[in-house]
Amino acid sequence: MNAKDVIIACDFGSAEACLAFLDKFKDEERKPFLKIGMELYYAAGPEIVKELKKRGFKIFLDLKLHDIPNTVKKAMKVLSNLDVDMVNVHAAGTIEMMKAAKEGLTREDGTRPLLIAVTQLTSTSEQAMREQLLIDATINDTIAKYAQNAKEAGLDGVVCSPLEAELVKKTCGNDFMTVTPGIRFADSSKDDQVRITDPARAREIGSDYIVVGRPITAATDPVAAYKRCVRDFLNL
Ligand code: C5P
Repeated sequence: MNAKDVIIACDFGSAEACLAFLDKFKDEERKPFLKIGMELYYAAGPEIVKELKKRGFKIFLDLKLHDIPNTVKKAMKVLSNLDVDMVNVHAAGTIEMMKAAKEGLTREDGTRPLLIAVTQLTSTSEQAMREQLLIDATINDTIAKYAQNAKEAGLDGVVCSPLEAELVKKTCGNDFMTVTPGIRFADSSKDDQVRITDPARAREIGSDYIVVGRPITAATDPVAAYKRCVRDFLNL
């Protein structure tokens, strides 16, 4: 049985903005699991990761590595030393690249952060896949195949839309983790997300971790919005 949690996407342009946001949670008993993506990492660097780890947060470092296997392996070694809890690569980098990522990530004592792969970005349509990438398969077949590749490479799971979690579990088994952005409350704005669902439904269809950004970060009361996600997704 995989751990389940709500991950807050900290999509901020500076360390100050991120820390000011997190101050709102300082009296909370439950420390949120945080996602640091390219925007915050490129703005604030490894220092923000170290600072948040020092404050006791778990970190999913969402940098979606995709390069030649040797480069990915070496980059992963650096990220592993940052003591993050979860990192990711693009499955499109091939099984060999994913295996290299895992090798680079594994520390001398055998421990390592969780490693997951992006299958097809939720922003990519079947039409764009066919016309621009010359991939002549359905989105679902592509996702199932990329998830199988990730499993074969020894990864822990994939990032996918919550609506694809069931397909991934059917293809790769229940222990293979699904980390799903594209979460909205039934009564809130969709923003630019298309294939979305709410936290309770995400739990039902097999998400292990939901990644929630704007419904929490842009809420008038972010702590209340986070607690609502925890209540609906984790049944707490
Ligand atoms: O604000 P929102 O809840 O839409 O944030 C979702 C987060 O998940 C963002 O950080 C976005 O980059 C990320 N993400 C996504 N879809 C993917 C992969 C990552 O929305 N396929």
